[in-house]
Amino acid sequence: MSFDTTSQNKDRQYLLNRKEIWVFGYGSLIYKVDFPYIEKAPATIIGWKRRFWQGSHDHRGTPEKPGRVVTLVRSNNDHCAGIAYKVNPEVFDHLDHREKNGYLRYDVDVVFNVAPSLTDKGAKKGLVYIAPKDNAAFLGPASIKQIAKHIHQSSGPSGHNRDYVFQLADALRALGEIDEHVFAIDSYLKEFKAQET
Ligand code: SIN
Repeated sequence: MSFDTTSQNKDRQYLLNRKEIWVFGYGSLIYKVDFPYIEKAPATIIGWKRRFWQGSHDHRGTPEKPGRVVTLVRSNNDHCAGIAYKVNPEVFDHLDHREKNGYLRYDVDVVFNVAPSLTDKGAKKGLVYIAPKDNAAFLGPASIKQIAKHIHQSSGPSGHNRDYVFQLADALRALGEIDEHVFAIDSYLKEFKAQET
């Protein structure tokens, strides 16, 4: 798979005939909302877990020195909490560009913690950006400490890699969610930062 997934994503789903479109965010899409949306709500997807296994060449690292950002990995007994946004189809021009470093759009059932529009309850069809294992920027597993060290030493055009972790961990705490993988990396990074000063 090429590094830039923009054109692949354009052909993946036909969106114009959908009554409503929800996009589920679980990483930077939770805390950096640089796109218009109609409505948003805390939500969960079942059978997936969040992992810092994706390389970042364009936001939190460079092609020579990739950073680490989150993707989703299949895991039957897990679920992943995030935020779902109801959007217009035009938003995908921007999102496909923002998520172009290995992420593909997948259809997913989004389960709402709080019913959107206060009229519908339960799950809705949505889209989620996942960087699959066969993408060219995929880094895969490493120990929590190794991941934290890697992030501590990385930065890219969108800023220091550790700020991605701090903002994600804070956003999850604000949602009342616990993600041990994210929180363990967040703790190591705070230790490393404190040792610097
Ligand atoms: C997401 O936030 O849903 C995708 C991964 C990212 O942009 O950090």
